[in-house]
Order: sequence, then C-alpha cells, then structure tokens
Amino acid sequence: MWWLLRKVLFLLDAEDAHALAKWGIRGMARVLPLRPLLEGNPVGLAAGFDKNAELLEALPVFGFSSVEIGTVTPLPQGGNDRPRLFRNPHDSTLFNRMGFNNLGAGIISERVRRARKRIPTNFKIGVNLGKNKSTPDELAHQDYAKAATPFADTADYFVINVSSPNTPGLRTLQSPEHLNPIVKEVKEVIRKSGRQIPLYVKLAPELSGDSLKRLIRALETAGISGLVLTNTLGGDYIYRQKSLPGGWSGQILTSIARDRLIEVRSITALPIISVGGIMTVEDASERMKLGATSIQLYTGWIYQGPFFARKIYRALCG
Ligand SMILES: Cc1cc2nc3c(=O)[nH]c(=O)nc-3n(C[C@H](O)[C@H](O)[C@H](O)COP(=O)(O)O)c2cc1C
Repeated sequence: MWWLLRKVLFLLDAEDAHALAKWGIRGMARVLPLRPLLEGNPVGLAAGFDKNAELLEALPVFGFSSVEIGTVTPLPQGGNDRPRLFRNPHDSTLFNRMGFNNLGAGIISERVRRARKRIPTNFKIGVNLGKNKSTPDELAHQDYAKAATPFADTADYFVINVSSPNTPGLRTLQSPEHLNPIVKEVKEVIRKSGRQIPLYVKLAPELSGDSLKRLIRALETAGISGLVLTNTLGGDYIYRQKSLPGGWSGQILTSIARDRLIEVRSITALPIISVGGIMTVEDASERMKLGATSIQLYTGWIYQGPFFARKIYRALCG
C-alpha cells in the first residue's frame, strides 16, 4: 500500500509532497489507535520535518517517542527560494537547501503549549535552535538565547544547531570560540527558567579528527548535556545546469554518521542522539549497539513509509 502511495507522492514536487504527507499523517493519526508509548523507546523524529510543531499530536501514534521541532529562529523567516528540496529515489537520498523557513519562536512555542494537553506525558519535545539569516555571526549568541526564551517553560530539551549548511556562515560557529558564548547564553535562559532542560549541540558530519576532539572537550567543559550527530552532508545539486549548494541526507550518510558515532563515543561519555542515514531496522539497532543513547529518523521515514518508526521500536523494545 505504501509503495503505491509513495509512487504517487514521488510524482509531485518534493516540498509539495511533504506538505501533503503532513496532512495525511495528521488524518491517519485521527483514525489509528494510540498505543501507549513503550518506556525506553529510543526513536525520535529529527529536526526539520516538523519545523513549526504541526504534528505533535500525530507523532506518538506513529511510534515516535520524541520530536525535535524547528530549526526555530527568533523571528519568522521564509527560507530560500523554491525549489529547495529534491529527492533521488535511486539512491534513497534527499537534498535540501531550505534555509530555516519557520514561523518564529513566539508562534511555535504557543503551539507547543497548546498541544501539551493532548499528547502523552512521556512524549518528549526537543527544540532545535538557530539564528536568523540577517543576524551577523558576532551576535549569534543573542539569537540562540532569544529563540530559546519562549520555550523555557515547555521544552524537554534544547539543541544548538550550528551545523546546517543552508545558513551562510553557520558552520563556522562550530568552534570553541564561537560555541562557548552561545552555550553560555542558552544555559542562562535555562537557569532563569528554574527547570532542568538538557542542552545538546548538533554537529556536521564533516567534523572529525583533532578539531572534533578539541570541540567536544570544550563543550564538555562548557557543561552541555549531549550531542546530536549528525546534520546533513554539505554538497551541491545540479538543477537546470545550475549548481545549488545545500545538504544531502539519507543513504549517503549511513556510514558517515555511523563512523562519527564510533569516533565520538571513543572521545566522550556524553549522551549521543544518532541521526543520519538510518534506513533500515538493522541500521537503527547497530547505532544503539555502538553506544547511541537514542536515534532519530528523517529521510528513512520518507523512503520506508509511515510505520517505519513503529517497526524499529518493536524490533528494539520487543
Ligand atoms: C528537508 C530537510 C530539512 C531539514 N531541516 C533541518 C533543520 O531545520 N535543522 C536541523 O538541525 N536539521 C535539519 N535537517 C537535518 C535532519 O535533522 C538530519 O540531521 C539529516 O537529515 C540526517 O538524517 P537522515 O539521513 O535520517 O535524513 C533537515 C533535513 C532535511 C532532509
């Protein structure tokens, strides 16, 4: 059934198909039974799928125990011009150059507060934080704090995203000099909230070796709670003879994200959310065996169909 539906969806422009799929997900969630979320279910939905917190009530029905909403920026922004999402079904990849299109922290946080009453209490909502495109890098730390503030009473965890390839200059923030002030400002928001909100940092798959080790040591010292590994792999997509910069996800990331997990697990005991190229139940189970604390899906959910998360958590949790 899914293969047929997928064929139809894949005839559409990728972003239109995504909008239609979200509508379908919400509709299906209304008729499917909500099974209690198993304790210890490690399967979450990765950032960027539900940027504006439209699917919070539906996701537990599909077997997800958490979602990372966003990337959320302080002010709403439209993102890059379309087309900005492409799929390559022959190698199960996606290419995106979305550019943090989102409704802004104010509206999205209000949605989370409203949805809280209707979702299971053990469903976790993480908030992936970013900066507005127009904010200069020197003021980035202020943007991360501004994006976090409206969520301080409701987020289950925060993620500092400095690894999207689609906001010019963002990845240069992946250094101790730039990340320290950002972590400090967001930790101050958390302190003022009086709640214990874990703070994660999401890194690019390209970071490795000495620079990765140095960065992780600095982040440990700064007192982060864990890491999200990895974001998309930077690259180009040829569209109408023009080369568009952006990020690859899906199968192309499977071995890279796995290698990064192995590398980082050998450096630190911090919790790691492993994401990137989890396309089969076996990939998911391997990540857990390699020391991931939990996993997230994005491209795999699109290629494997709506029940992929359920399939994984059944295999992992019995
Ligand atoms: C269309 C699209 C939009 C994304 N948007 C974001 C985003 O806003 N913030 C972020 O941290 N990651 C974003 N990601 C990256 C995913 O969260 C994930 O790290 C990446 O896709 C690798 O996982 P996958 O191979 O399972 O898709 C996006 C990915 C895709 C495909």
